[in-house]
Amino acid sequence: MNGAQLNSIVDVICYSFQHLNPHLIGHGGRVAYILMNMLRDTNYYTQQEKEDIFMLGLFHDIGAYKKEEVDSMLTFDLNDSMEHSVSGYLLFRTFSPLPEYADVILYHHQCNAQYYPVPINNYHRDIAKLIYLADRIDVACILNKTESLESFFQNYDESIFTPFMVDWFLDANAKYHILDHIQSTEYRKEIADYSRRHFSLSRAQIHNYLMTFIFSVNFRNEYAALHTSHALYLSENIADTLHLSPADCKTVQVAMLLHNIGKITVPSHLTATDDYNQYLMELYKSPTLDVAKDILADADEQQSFQIIEEAFALIKCWYSSTAADSALAPVAEAVALSYVMSDSLTYDLEVSLKNYPQLITYLKGKYYNCKMDDSMLMTLERDFEQIIANTQASSKSILHTYNQMMDEHSYLNTIILHYNHYNNKYHPSPAIF
Ligand SMILES: [Fe+2]
Ligand SMILES: [Fe+2]
Repeated sequence: MNGAQLNSIVDVICYSFQHLNPHLIGHGGRVAYILMNMLRDTNYYTQQEKEDIFMLGLFHDIGAYKKEEVDSMLTFDLNDSMEHSVSGYLLFRTFSPLPEYADVILYHHQCNAQYYPVPINNYHRDIAKLIYLADRIDVACILNKTESLESFFQNYDESIFTPFMVDWFLDANAKYHILDHIQSTEYRKEIADYSRRHFSLSRAQIHNYLMTFIFSVNFRNEYAALHTSHALYLSENIADTLHLSPADCKTVQVAMLLHNIGKITVPSHLTATDDYNQYLMELYKSPTLDVAKDILADADEQQSFQIIEEAFALIKCWYSSTAADSALAPVAEAVALSYVMSDSLTYDLEVSLKNYPQLITYLKGKYYNCKMDDSMLMTLERDFEQIIANTQASSKSILHTYNQMMDEHSYLNTIILHYNHYNNKYHPSPAIF
C-alpha cells in the first residue's frame, strides 16, 4: 500500500469522526492540526516523533466514541474518572502501531497524575500536556466559542500549562493563523496535504490504525466485537481459500474493514438475527452504506467503496431474488459472502456443526435465483470446515482480548476514580472555566 492510500486512511478516520457524534465533529482532526502547527518549527522532536504526535492527536479521544462518554468529555468536571482516557489507552495499546505511546492517551486529561499501575515518564507526560493544551484550546475556542485566549490561559496554573507552552501556541497561532484556519475550515485541506507530504506508513501500520478505529466503535459489547472479528477473519480466510492475488486479498480485507466504518450509526442489535431474509433487508435498509459512501467519497477512497457498493448490490439481489450483475467483480462477491456468512457465525458459534448445511443451501438458492455462476460458492463449500475453524480460532483470540480489556478497564477506572477523588478533595486544582 503506498503513501497515497495512507493519506486516504488518515482522511477516512477524520471523516469518520465527523459522523460519529455531532458534538465532536472534527475534534480529533483539529487537535492534530493544532499540534501539527505547533511542532512545525521545533527541532526538539524528530520528524518521526512529530508524525507520531499528530496521530496521537487524531486518536486521543478514540475511547470516547460511545454515546455516554461524550458529555463528560466536553465538561470540565475534574471528579469525572475520564473513562474515555482508559478506553482509549487500552484500545491504543492493544491495536495501534504505537502501543508504547498509549500512556499518553491515558494521561491526556489528568496530565499531572501518576497512576501506579501505569507509570508515565516525563517525555510522555510532556506530550500528554501538549495534547491536553490543543484539546482545551479546541473545546474552548471552537466548541464553546470563548473569545479571549488570554482569559482561557488564565484559568490554568503553570503546573498544567507552563508559560513556555502558552507562548509556543501563541507564536504558532500568530505565524500560522491556526484558529482562523480552523474557523474557515481551511485546516481540513492542510491536514490532508500534511499527511500526503510526510507520512509513509506500512500496510501493517495502516491495518493497525484501522483496527484501532474499528474496534473503538465495535467494542460496545461482546456481540459487536465478535461480529466484527468474524467478518474480518472470514474475509481473510475466504480470500486465501479462493487463492485471490495478494492485491485482491488486500482489497477484500480493506473493503471489510472500511465497510464496518459505515456501521457507526447502526445499533448493534440490527446485526443480530437468525432470519437471513430479515437480516439482509435490515442491512440493506440501514444507513450503513450511505454513511460509508459519504466517508469514503470525502476521503477519496473510491476504489474500496466501489467494491463495497458492488457487494451491497449483490446482497440486495440475494434479498430480492433478482438477477445479479454478470460482470460482478470476484472481490465484491467474496466481500458479500464474508458479510452474510459472518452473521451466521456470530449468531451461532456452532455453525459448522448445525447451520452449515442450511447456510450453504440458503446461499445456493440465492445463487440460483439470481442466475449466478456458483463456482466460488462450490470452492468455499469444499473447504468450509477449515474456513470456519480458522475464523473461529482467530475470533476467539479477539474475544479473549475484549474480555481482558473489559477487566482491565474496570480495574483501572476504579483506581483512577479513587486517585482523582483524593487529589481533588485534598489538593484541589484551580477553577477551570
Ligand atoms: Fe479527551
Ligand atoms: Fe479531546
